[in-house]
Amino acid sequence: MGLTVAMGGKGGTGKTTVAGLLIRYLIDHGMKPVLAVDADSNSNLNEVLGVALNETLGDAREQMKTDVPVGMTKDIYMELKVEQSLVEGDGFDLIAMGRPEGAGCYCAANNLLSGLLDRLIESYDYLVVDNEAGMEHFSRLTQKDIDLLLLVSDPSRRGLTAACRIVELVASLPIRIGGKMLVVNQVRVTPESWPEDVIKTFKEDEIAIFPADPVLAEYDRTGKPTALLPADSAVAQAAMALFDALIAKYRK
Ligand SMILES: Nc1ncnc2c1ncn2[C@@H]1O[C@H](COP(=O)(O)OP(=O)(O)O)[C@@H](O)[C@H]1O
Ligand SMILES: [Mg+2]
Repeated sequence: MGLTVAMGGKGGTGKTTVAGLLIRYLIDHGMKPVLAVDADSNSNLNEVLGVALNETLGDAREQMKTDVPVGMTKDIYMELKVEQSLVEGDGFDLIAMGRPEGAGCYCAANNLLSGLLDRLIESYDYLVVDNEAGMEHFSRLTQKDIDLLLLVSDPSRRGLTAACRIVELVASLPIRIGGKMLVVNQVRVTPESWPEDVIKTFKEDEIAIFPADPVLAEYDRTGKPTALLPADSAVAQAAMALFDALIAKYRK
């Protein structure tokens, strides 16, 4: 049994929040260990999950240029760095990709990282990848098999259009996608209709609505990990109902 989920959508819509709630759900339902991959250069999935980050793989890539001790191969160095970057949480491990590379050649480091990440991913049945808006890492990750593409949008036309564009983009990449779901998040008033793009891209049963949740906003404001939201809060309720259905449909 297992499941690979990739998040997508415009910035600020709730991707990381929904990823965190999904990770919590998987753990609470015994579907673990989960590997959480934070593929946002502005890493913050750890805050949603309530754990501290050590280093990111981006840091490791920089350090490989200058810091490899004499007598150590780059392979071993990067292997150690990946180990050090892996944060152990309660039922999950988290690894953050970190900032994108600066100028210069990073081919060797990237190749090593791809291989090491592939090996790491293999030891987990459940994988949740929190992507940033641009999805830069999508084509980079050798994890090419995604069971579920989980798009998150706010109710704005721009957010919804961005979600549709990502579906188009991913379709053009050599990635197998099992299925997709659009979460329209932070909804105050349920819209009467969706823009044309949305209707063309998503079937009716591929659209879910999550309410704007004052309890979540309060957790966020006071710096509490939002993945630990009480189960009776509005967004947690909507998320649990959706995840029940998605797990039944997509878990292999
Ligand atoms: N349903 C919701 N109700 C209230 N606040 C929300 C909701 N979903 C997300 N937020 C808040 O919106 C902000 C952006 O969410 P985040 O998950 O970081 O978005 P993204 O990862 O897409 O940039 C955060 O402050 C988060 O707590
Ligand atoms: Mg995010």
